[in-house]
Amino acid sequence: MYAPYPENMMESIKKVEASRAARMATEPRRLTAEEKDALLNEFHPDRKPDAFAEIKIGPNKGQKAPLELAKMLHSTSRILNEKIDLSKVDYDVDVLVIGGGGAGSSCAIEAHNAGANVMIVTKLRIGDANTMMAEGGIQAADKENDSPVQHYLDCFGGGHFDAKPELVKRLVMEAPDAIKWLNELGVEFDKTDDGRMVTTHGGGTSRKRMHAAKDYSGAEIMRTIRDEVINLGIPVVEFTSAVELIKDDKGQVAGAVLLNMETGDYSVAKAKTVVIATGGAGRMHYQGFPTSNHYGATADGLVLGYRAGAALRNQDSIQYHPTGAIYPSQILGALVTEKVRSVGAQLVNANGEAYIHPLETRDVNASGVIRECKEGRGVEVPGGAQGVWLDTPMIEILGGEGTIEKRIPAMFRMYMNYGIDMRKVPIVIYPTLHYQNGGLEIDGDGFTSIPNLLVAGEAAGGIHGTNRLMGNSLLDVIVFGRNAGKQASKKYKEVELGNMNLDHVQSYDAELKAASLETGEVSPLLLPKYARHER
Ligand code: FUM
Repeated sequence: MYAPYPENMMESIKKVEASRAARMATEPRRLTAEEKDALLNEFHPDRKPDAFAEIKIGPNKGQKAPLELAKMLHSTSRILNEKIDLSKVDYDVDVLVIGGGGAGSSCAIEAHNAGANVMIVTKLRIGDANTMMAEGGIQAADKENDSPVQHYLDCFGGGHFDAKPELVKRLVMEAPDAIKWLNELGVEFDKTDDGRMVTTHGGGTSRKRMHAAKDYSGAEIMRTIRDEVINLGIPVVEFTSAVELIKDDKGQVAGAVLLNMETGDYSVAKAKTVVIATGGAGRMHYQGFPTSNHYGATADGLVLGYRAGAALRNQDSIQYHPTGAIYPSQILGALVTEKVRSVGAQLVNANGEAYIHPLETRDVNASGVIRECKEGRGVEVPGGAQGVWLDTPMIEILGGEGTIEKRIPAMFRMYMNYGIDMRKVPIVIYPTLHYQNGGLEIDGDGFTSIPNLLVAGEAAGGIHGTNRLMGNSLLDVIVFGRNAGKQASKKYKEVELGNMNLDHVQSYDAELKAASLETGEVSPLLLPKYARHER
C-alpha cells in the first residue's frame, strides 16, 4: 500500500476516503453572515488583543498594530548617528522607485515610457518579491458574463466594506487593461485551443475571473515585466536598501538615503518624486506564524513612510492564507495555492468531515482551520503540530486523470519532492502568514499626504479593506504600479525641490525619547531576524 505518512495520518486518511463519495455528492453549504462573524471573532488571529500594541507616536498614534510592527515603528532610525552628507548626491532622478517587485517594475516601465528619468533601488535582486511567489492567478472582469461592477461588489464585500471606494474602483475598472498589457508583453496565460483565457473561481468571487499561468502565475508575470525593465535599460540598483526618505525645506519628499547591503556604505538618491513599492511583511512572522512570503518582506516601506509623516491604514489587518503547508516540515508555511480548491479539493478534518465550503473568503477559511485544530478535529503531524486535510485526489476524480499535473504542476512537484503524490493522498495544511491587508494610506491617484510621495502594491493600504480576495494582489501590483509610474511622471515636471534635509528623522527620535520608547532595535528591519550577517 502507498503510505507516505506516519500511521496516525494514514488512519485518518481512511476516514477521508470513506466519506469522499458522499462529500462529492453534496458540497458544504455557505455560511451565513452571522456564522462568519462568530467564527472570525473567536478564531481569527487578528481578533487576539494581546497580539497587538498601541502605536505611541506619529500619525496613527492611539491605534493598534501587530506587536512586531509596533516595535519597528517605535525603534530608532539606522542613520540617527551616521554622518550622511546630503550635498554629495550619488543619483539624481525624476522618479525613484523603492522596490523591484511587480509594483515597482510596472511603475518604472510606465514612468520610463512617459519619458521620465527613473531608477529602481531594491535590497535584493529585481524580481525577489512576493509577486514572484504568487501562484493562483490574477482577477479581471473581462468576460461577457462579468463586469467591473460585479468585481467591485466581491472585492468591497470580501474586504468587510473597509476599503476606500475610489481605490477599489480603480482596481476593478483598470483590471481588463492590466491583463491586456501583460498579455501583450508576453505573459503566457492559460488559454483554450481557440485562444480564450481559461478563468476559474477564487474564494469569494461570484464569477470565474481568475486568469492564471498554471500555478506559477506570479513567476510568469514577474519574469515578463523584469525582462521589460531590463530591455528598456531602466537602471536598477540591486542589493541596496532605502533606509530613510529625504525631505526638503518645503516638506516635500526629495529622495532617499540608500544602504549598500554588501559594503555597508551609504549613498544619497535625490528625486523629484518617490514611489514606495517595498511589498509586504511576512518575514516579521506576526504571532509566530510561518510565512509564504519572500525573504525580504519586512515592512520596510511602512517604517520609512511613517517616520516621514505618512499615515497608515488598516495596519492591524493581516491575511493568514488558509492553506499553508504544515507537513513535511521542510516546506512549512509554503503556499498551497487556493487554486487547489478552485479545481476541486475540499477542506476535510481528521474525522473525514468537510466542515466548511472550500471557497469561503480567506479570513473565514483560515479561522475554520484554526477552529478544527483547537477543538480536537485536527490531523497531528510529526512534531505535534496540527492541520487539516486538503483532499486533492478529488481534483482528479472531478476533472479527470491528469488534471493536477496540467492545472497545478508546481504543487504536484513540490509534494512529489517529498514522496507525497497528491493525486493519491490528501495533503495537510494550516494557515500561513500571507499578506498585509493594510499599509500606507493613499488617495485615488496613489499619492500619500507627503507631497510627491506615492505608494504602490502591498505597501499601500485601503485597496482590500480588511480581507483581500485571491488574485486581487497580482492585480493591484499591476494596476497601482502602472498608475504610480504614470502619475509620478506627470508630477515631477512641476516639482521644484528646496534644500534637502533629514530633520524628520531627528524629530521622530525626539518623539520616541519624549514617549520613553526604547526598544533597543533599529528599523526598518531589512532582513529577517534569522538572516546571517557575515560582513
Ligand atoms: O492562493 C493563491 O494562489 C494566492 C493568491 C493570492 O494571494 O492572490
